[in-house]
Amino acid sequence: MSIPHYAVFGHPVAQSLSPRIHAAFAQQAGIALTYLALDTEEHGFPVTLARFAAAGGVGANVTVPNKPEAAGIAHVLSPRARRAGVANTLTLRDGAWHGDNTDGSGLVRDLRERRGLDLHGMRVLILGAGGAAQGVAPALLEAGIDQLIVANRTRSRAYDLIDRLNDPARTRACTLREIASLGDFDLIVQATSAGHEGALPAVPDLVPSAETVCIDLNYGRAAIGFMAWAHQHGVQQAFDGMGMLVEQAADAFEIWHGERPYTEPVYAQLRMSIGA
Ligand code: ATR
Repeated sequence: MSIPHYAVFGHPVAQSLSPRIHAAFAQQAGIALTYLALDTEEHGFPVTLARFAAAGGVGANVTVPNKPEAAGIAHVLSPRARRAGVANTLTLRDGAWHGDNTDGSGLVRDLRERRGLDLHGMRVLILGAGGAAQGVAPALLEAGIDQLIVANRTRSRAYDLIDRLNDPARTRACTLREIASLGDFDLIVQATSAGHEGALPAVPDLVPSAETVCIDLNYGRAAIGFMAWAHQHGVQQAFDGMGMLVEQAADAFEIWHGERPYTEPVYAQLRMSIGA
């Protein structure tokens, strides 16, 4: 039997840590597989995915900017991917792509198990309403938070996300400028892509307290600005998205291989080699 192929799709994707993470999980589990990083810029996501499947590809992780397309391509969507409207994991079964979204479960697992946070009753602010925010918002609600405020530069997109969540009692939308009038938050989730251009979303009136937990869904250079902003305000618990990255990968690995890897050694190894 030939070795099954897996890959992460997106653009840019050359620096993705997913091949490294899945190789480490596979080694742990004693499973032989190949895991590639496939850039979708030249041929687009659907063509790149079709070629991959024709060459024996059976599982795809999908990153920026192809997560909405992945949800559209999937013949079958898990309930959580349908609710999010974006997919980050595709699995080929009997010739059909099954789409799922493990970003939200990855974030919740990172916050609960690695950071030891109790999400119940929390008042949560998400900055951004794009694919990243869509992916994690349903899981935060399911984790028992009390309130979710989605603040986005473009107002209509924040409202679109709230509509999709269909939980009017616990959710509300606003623009970045309106945040100041909304009081304090227990958790701030930075889900914009501003950090990729070395910027911060403009939130001049947002002042976290020392107890506010801050997490950027990005890691590496893209998270530096937000982490610095949090530290400048004396925030005691500020995290980047590396823990979530490893956890969402573990969920995908479990979907594909039926066993859950130990994430802590892989997380520790990445943290050591990439830096804080
Ligand atoms: P992703 O999949 O990474 O979420 P996306 O779907 O393109 O990417 O969404 C990007 C998000 O970052 C959006 O919420 C975007 O705000 P708009 O909807 O107003 O475009 C937000 N964003 C990007 N650059 C930003 C900036 N400089 N300031 C504030 N928000 C920004």
